[in-house]
Amino acid sequence: MSPVLELDRIVRRYPQADGSELTVLDSVGLGVEAGETVSVAGRSGSGKSTLLHIAAGIETPSEGTVRLGGQDLAGLSDPERSRLRGRFVGLVFQFFHLVPYLTVRENVLLPARIAGVRRVPDGEGVSGEVGLAADHLLAAVGLTGRAREPARRLSGGEMQRTAIARALLLGPALLLADEPTGNLDARGARVVADLLFRLVRERDAALVLATHDLELAARAATRLRLRGGRLFADGAAKPAVSP
Ligand SMILES: Nc1ncnc2c1ncn2[C@@H]1O[C@H](COP(=O)(O)OP(=O)(O)OP(=O)(O)O)[C@@H](O)[C@H]1O
Ligand SMILES: [Mg+2]
Repeated sequence: MSPVLELDRIVRRYPQADGSELTVLDSVGLGVEAGETVSVAGRSGSGKSTLLHIAAGIETPSEGTVRLGGQDLAGLSDPERSRLRGRFVGLVFQFFHLVPYLTVRENVLLPARIAGVRRVPDGEGVSGEVGLAADHLLAAVGLTGRAREPARRLSGGEMQRTAIARALLLGPALLLADEPTGNLDARGARVVADLLFRLVRERDAALVLATHDLELAARAATRLRLRGGRLFADGAAKPAVSP
């Protein structure tokens, strides 16, 4: 079976305002197997979000290859890439990206609406398989009682839990979580981290999480660190995967 995610010699450069180029990722390699948990630590600006966005096919690398479930993203059209991402990947963004005026349950159901899994007219009356999955996840993250509340009224931790439920709705093989406990106090961070690891284990999903919280990073079976555009095994002086 192919790894869930393979990054091969990924380079990402950004043009800067002064005409020079910033190399954020410099020949990064990573392989993630089914059910594996991986943390990517690194300071602010080290390229963690960039790495996750490239793994999800939201951003294109300057060089290198991304394979999701063995499929090379470069060989796909934009709609094909979106379809593969929708089926295969769940994303928890650094800044949640909830739709503030939709209810919690409608936000959780968004991936189904986007993937066109079935008609999801307003999220409220949705039943059937996807509606059940949403209700299940809402219960799992402790938000059943807030399901009909607009997302804008939630606390930071509740938004984070909504984002996790949403990312898992369609049963992705790979969950990418960007700073999933950022903006939470220590207790809130523990609750969200417990949830995240429990839910991916129950669903046999692989997890790649980016964080500068070392306590959170330590929970992953594979611990990596981004520094100077290179990915290192945590504590190692040499890159985790040599280019
Ligand atoms: N679209 C862009 N254009 C130019 N530079 C960018 C762009 N996106 C990111 N960068 C730069 O790339 C570097 C890495 O950004 P990234 O968001 O990946 O870091 P990060 O590790 O996620 O940081 P944080 O911990 O603060 O979230 C930063 O210096 C950022 O300014
Ligand atoms: Mg980031």
